[in-house]
Amino acid sequence: MITLDAGKPEDLARAAELLAGGDIIAIPTETVYGLAADATNLPAIRKVFEAKQRPIGHPLIVHVSEPDHIRRWAKAVPDIAWRLVEKYWPGPLTLLLPKAEGVSDFITGGQPGIAVRMPSHRVAREVIKRLGRDVVAPSANPYSRISPTSASHVIRGMAGRISAVLDGGECTVGIESTILDLTGDVPAIARPGLVSRQELEDFLGMGLADHAPASIAVPGNVKHHYQPVTPTIGVAAPRSAQALPELTRQPGRTGVIWWQTPPPEDRTAEAIQLGDTPETYARMLYTALHTMDQANLTRIIVELPPETDAWLAIHDRLNRACTELVG
Ligand code: TXA
Ligand code: MG
Repeated sequence: MITLDAGKPEDLARAAELLAGGDIIAIPTETVYGLAADATNLPAIRKVFEAKQRPIGHPLIVHVSEPDHIRRWAKAVPDIAWRLVEKYWPGPLTLLLPKAEGVSDFITGGQPGIAVRMPSHRVAREVIKRLGRDVVAPSANPYSRISPTSASHVIRGMAGRISAVLDGGECTVGIESTILDLTGDVPAIARPGLVSRQELEDFLGMGLADHAPASIAVPGNVKHHYQPVTPTIGVAAPRSAQALPELTRQPGRTGVIWWQTPPPEDRTAEAIQLGDTPETYARMLYTALHTMDQANLTRIIVELPPETDAWLAIHDRLNRACTELVG
């Protein structure tokens, strides 16, 4: 696997050439690194499933460089979708729309919808433009592991399984896009992200439906997803002043990802503080989990922020990352 530098035009050209030749490569987006394949090349898409060891039937998001490309993938684009595109694209909002005739079941996992997003990361759009075709791009991590937010995370998880990683620095959003399902009568959040339910409801001037629990074939909904290898314990913030000293007293090496309660220094092998706001917290969350997971710890403890609307996406990811919850 080679590392390409997104700052060099010749490396961007090389990335597009690899994709055009049916290779799969990791590219930066503002949310997490994606494992890109030419969305019109089925053998290339098959390689994505193999490289991630992702079960067939888990659908993929199509990434576009122009809003108009939606029409290539969706059968019908309701007005509400265009309003959302105008407000949120390019950016971390994926729209789930009724799929067009002929869109491969390989991409949709046999679901009736197609998920489309236009990333705001300049490098992602540049690669798609140079390729001249849209790409599918799941997060560039082995199945069920933590998503990568830097080229080094990709290298650690995917070396030997993909042709290249295009290094475009650290992802600024840090967690996966919000997925809004527009295939039903009322829009529904299929995966929470930093574009929150409240924000979408305010913008659209309507309530969003509660999404029916999706089938197991929808990977974001597999409970054990985004997991470190090290046992990870979540502690609700109000309990942490009491629980942190207890938990760090256990034998072995403990790492603490904390939010507002500094852990006891003498009993903590590694400590990382995450940001105050959902945005700053999300930006460093996966990096913190990757760092802890490499530090030969017995356990990782994460102080959980409140369960309010603004923190919902972070809670969703932490619930999946944690093997145990306290509080
Ligand atoms: O931020 C993101 O969305 C990142 C970056 C790389 O763009 N991508 C990403 O892809 O998170 P992935 O494959 O790791 O997660 C895709 C999610 C899954 O939960 C999948 O089930 C859902 O999108 N999804 C994709 N296509 C779908 C479809 N046709 N119907 C229902 N759910 C779908
Ligand atoms: Mg993923």
